[in-house]
Amino acid sequence: MNNCIIVTGGAGFIGSNFVNAWVTLGLGKVINLDKLTYAGNMENLAGIEHDHNHIFVHADIGDKDVVNNLLHTHRPRAVVNFAAESHVDRSIHGPGEFIQTNIVGTFNLLEEVRAYWLELDEKEKADFRFLHVSTDEVYGSLGAKDPAFKETNPYEPNSPYSASKAASDHLVRAYHHTYGLPTLTTNCSNNYGPYHFPEKLIPLVIHNALSGKPLPIYGNGSNIRDWLYVGDHCSAIRRVLEAGKVGETYNIGGWNEKTNLEVVHTLCDILDKKKPKPQGSYRDQITYVQDRPGHDQRYAIDATKIERELGWKPAETFETGIQKTVDWYLENQKWVTHVTSGEYKNWVSKNYAERGEEMA
Ligand code: NAD
Ligand code: TYD
Repeated sequence: MNNCIIVTGGAGFIGSNFVNAWVTLGLGKVINLDKLTYAGNMENLAGIEHDHNHIFVHADIGDKDVVNNLLHTHRPRAVVNFAAESHVDRSIHGPGEFIQTNIVGTFNLLEEVRAYWLELDEKEKADFRFLHVSTDEVYGSLGAKDPAFKETNPYEPNSPYSASKAASDHLVRAYHHTYGLPTLTTNCSNNYGPYHFPEKLIPLVIHNALSGKPLPIYGNGSNIRDWLYVGDHCSAIRRVLEAGKVGETYNIGGWNEKTNLEVVHTLCDILDKKKPKPQGSYRDQITYVQDRPGHDQRYAIDATKIERELGWKPAETFETGIQKTVDWYLENQKWVTHVTSGEYKNWVSKNYAERGEEMA
């Protein structure tokens, strides 16, 4: 086994932040396997394009031959699985890809990893890790007064996205219990930060605000999400990989519960200061649109276990992380222009037209 890891989905939002940090911190070689769906973007990896510690492979996690070949060629000490279809609204429009990648793809990956792992010697077997990156959405929706999600909460997924992630988590769990594969699972709250694709709330609002477009709030804006800066999610994954107990799951969160309206107001207020409009406030662009079907009301993560057992805590508060994020988008408008051309336009007009808002 080598001091090398395979990362899947490393050209997407969180995966690229993870790979960039891994290579920049000098933690060893990364084989980055990504299918480059609409959400994967080589521009996210431009800073490490020529780094010999980063090898990009354009492939599907469900392609057994490619995965088998990579495992045997590079002999990694760990596989970190970020690859997924990740957008709830897209899962409502078309769940098929979610089943294919998140469930079948993870299954195929697990099968190839298990075969590779079985061939390792005893020490290598004990040292190997399969870390599966998952979401808090598998736990379902909380009422206003419910305690935050613990690792022991039952799974109650409500969207095709969260159901497909829940299924993949169960497969990972079963591969540990049945075959002894040394797995780790992380369930994280909503991330935000650089390279976040502008179909998700925070980057969409920044992009629309600067483009003079409506800022669409689903329903009445009272839904609550628990926000974590992406760099903190990546540091938590590194910590779990290093010190997590095999077979365990770790909830990762930022203790930052906010209503969607609070998030949008915060973004408007920051932009009003950093990039004032000739007249009025960005808040004037807020528009209420038809709600998401089955919209989960509240997510909140209890991150006590990872703090107590592994000593991990987020470095950013929502206030510091969101300022950094807005700065990044203001400084990287070329990236935004590139990712919002082409297919993005079709998605935006489809998703918002049926909510009664023209937003091509
Ligand atoms: P993303 O949609 O930005 O990126 C997903 C990446 O996976 C893309 O680069 C895409 O090309 C790649 N991919 C998709 N299907 C693939 C396949 N079949 N084979 C290989 N690559 C494939 O997603 P993200 O927001 O970066 O999320 C990464 C992971 O973290 C996902 O597993 C997601 O469920 C989980 N997660 C996300 C959040 C969040 O707030 N974004 C929170 C918690 C957990
Ligand atoms: P999103 O970023 O899609 O993440 P998730 O659904 O995985 O939590 O959405 C975050 C919240 O913002 C969610 O409650 C839905 C809401 N939302 C809007 O109000 N308007 C929008 O245009 C989008 C994309 C999301």
